[in-house]
Amino acid sequence: NNPPWPAYRGYHEYSFAHATMGVRLPTILGKAIDDVVKTLNDEYDEEKIVDLTACIARMEDLMDDLQDNAKLRPIIDDGEGDIPLWNKMIARYFRGKDFMNAPWLFAEAYKYRRLHECFSLSKYWKTYDVFFRQKCDTFSRSSDAVFELSLRFAKPWQQDSSLSQEDALEAKRVMFHELTQICLWGNSTDLSLLINMTEEDIKKLQSTGGDHLAATEQNILGNHLSKVWEYISSSKFGSAGKGGRMDFVLDNAGFELYCDCVYADWLIQSGLCSEIRFHGKRFAWFVSDVTRQDFDWLLNSMIYGQLFPQVSDEELASLREMGARWKEYVKQGKWIYEDHAFWISGYTFWALKEEAPDLFLHLSESDLVVFKGDLNHRKLTFDCHVPPSTPFDVAIGNLATEAGAPPVLSLRTVKSDVVCGIPEGKAEQLDKDEPGWKISGKYAVVLLSEGRKG
Ligand code: F6P
Ligand code: MG
Repeated sequence: NNPPWPAYRGYHEYSFAHATMGVRLPTILGKAIDDVVKTLNDEYDEEKIVDLTACIARMEDLMDDLQDNAKLRPIIDDGEGDIPLWNKMIARYFRGKDFMNAPWLFAEAYKYRRLHECFSLSKYWKTYDVFFRQKCDTFSRSSDAVFELSLRFAKPWQQDSSLSQEDALEAKRVMFHELTQICLWGNSTDLSLLINMTEEDIKKLQSTGGDHLAATEQNILGNHLSKVWEYISSSKFGSAGKGGRMDFVLDNAGFELYCDCVYADWLIQSGLCSEIRFHGKRFAWFVSDVTRQDFDWLLNSMIYGQLFPQVSDEELASLREMGARWKEYVKQGKWIYEDHAFWISGYTFWALKEEAPDLFLHLSESDLVVFKGDLNHRKLTFDCHVPPSTPFDVAIGNLATEAGAPPVLSLRTVKSDVVCGIPEGKAEQLDKDEPGWKISGKYAVVLLSEGRKG
């Protein structure tokens, strides 16, 4: 079953869908072609050069299809696990649709799958990531916030043993509150929107200090933080003496992933969680989303990288200490990275149980599934024109109501049209006072659905 509200589509001129399909996607693809040309010019092996030239030709075809608003054709069978998901969906729902009149969410995801196809059909470049250079680069340009966090959180977290039980719990609550927000706001710097940012702009967006967080909390328009703490600190979360299992459906690589890991690190150290599962993408997705390569890159560069030439020995040591601890979690199986094919399909999460029952079952064993970022929020809510005051658990439909649905938390800075779970009248007021508020990344939501694990 689908929601009763219409989905956003590229031809909706009032929506961010229009600018994205018409302007942003061709720009992003143009930059991706530049990246591949750079790689081509650095290559010396003729066979690989010829193979890469064919990838570029396929990218140019994709550019033509985008600019000519071509019909969406099936994905060529490259033997990968997500092909049936894609082609079944095209055949069932979108036969004859083009980039502009198919639902925005599907058409945009389709573009990234076609981009992957440009490489998956090659011999030598199957796993090439056209966005890898950019992802690494933005992380190294985030040095202020990176070290602010590492200096604070590298040393193992310990609670003052002289605190009463009540004070100890309160101290944990405060930390939880702060770190959840660090994890939330880490989402404001995704590459698809911020490609041309200066170091100063990035700094402003990434400020993680206490005062800054208190001020930005006012920008969380629908805020279930207290409810989340109530759940996590109760006996319903995890099992006594063992802590819970939390799953992160990741969004962006680099700084956002770093914030996610700082959060996950504390959740383990505090004893609230015993296991964290990170869900990433199998290939380059929506510019900056995390792949396994990005995950490995982050942990390795924290220890071995020379990304920050200006830093002090103390800063460097803090980053190394934290990176080493995180790698240890991976070795011990406390942190697990996974990448199911469903996350790189065109389906919304309303179809999770039906189209990926194995994944649904797997997630239903989690104590909390945290969905990071804007795209995941769009997928949770079917990316449709839902009235903004609609409660979150109504807006996410099946994922809240189906038997076995896990508790779901969305940590999202608002960067596109769909908004739910905010007070009546708020969206209308912002439409009047701050046009563009839905795509600025200034506002956020922290929304919880309790699920139906029963
Ligand atoms: O192209 C629009 C979009 O899909 C929006 O969801 C958002 O603007 C961006 O791309 C991705 O944001 P995020 O990385 O937070 O999912
Ligand atoms: Mg993203």
